[in-house]
Amino acid sequence: MPIVVLISGSGSNLQAIIDAMQAGELPVEIRAVISNRTDAYGLERARAAGIHTEVVDHREYAGREAFDRALQKTIDAHEPALVVLAGFMRILTHEFVEHYMGRMLNIHPALLPLFPGLNTHERALQEAVKQHGATVHFVTTEVDGGPLVLSARVPVRPGDTAEGLAARVLEQEHRIYPQAIRWFAEGRLQMQYDRVLLDEKPLPTTGIDFAELTTDQTR
Ligand code: GAR
Repeated sequence: MPIVVLISGSGSNLQAIIDAMQAGELPVEIRAVISNRTDAYGLERARAAGIHTEVVDHREYAGREAFDRALQKTIDAHEPALVVLAGFMRILTHEFVEHYMGRMLNIHPALLPLFPGLNTHERALQEAVKQHGATVHFVTTEVDGGPLVLSARVPVRPGDTAEGLAARVLEQEHRIYPQAIRWFAEGRLQMQYDRVLLDEKPLPTTGIDFAELTTDQTR
């Protein structure tokens, strides 16, 4: 299945997708990796894997609408069946999101619906939550508010720093994102209105917890 991956930074989630693909565990072809920043390290990861890269620099556009239109044109030239946001740090216009409705996934570094937005690890520590984590969800016009697919929990330890917590959350991101993308690529995962179906069965609104996946679900 053709996909396009959007990044803004390090691209460790992109790397996890590339690794799963190269291991024969993920039936996708990454047609392009697109970044809004020329200095995103993920671009080097893509090039190292022989994947086509493009930069659509948001600073070169008059506003959000113009940038999103250019981005959409760049993405659509590759005819992806799925758009994968992997650390893409831009708020998207409603028009853009609606164009990819049901075929755009995002990974967020928190247990949604807790801590949408930025600085999730700092906020989790400030609020002294016992569990933190990451969530894969379909993208809708509500920022970090689309239907939830798969999450992984990370216990918060006494004395945790935001950096330490971020690193442990990232490890989990690298497990759940390839899994969710695989379901989509295999035609097993769908968004229907505000619900997610896996193997034609509706998921709970909380999505699935990675620790509770059944062997059927991971097959
Ligand atoms: C990840 O933690 C991802 O969940 C987060 O950015 C990081 C990107 O890391 N995404 C967001 O905050 C989206 N709002 P990576 O570039 O190493 O994959």
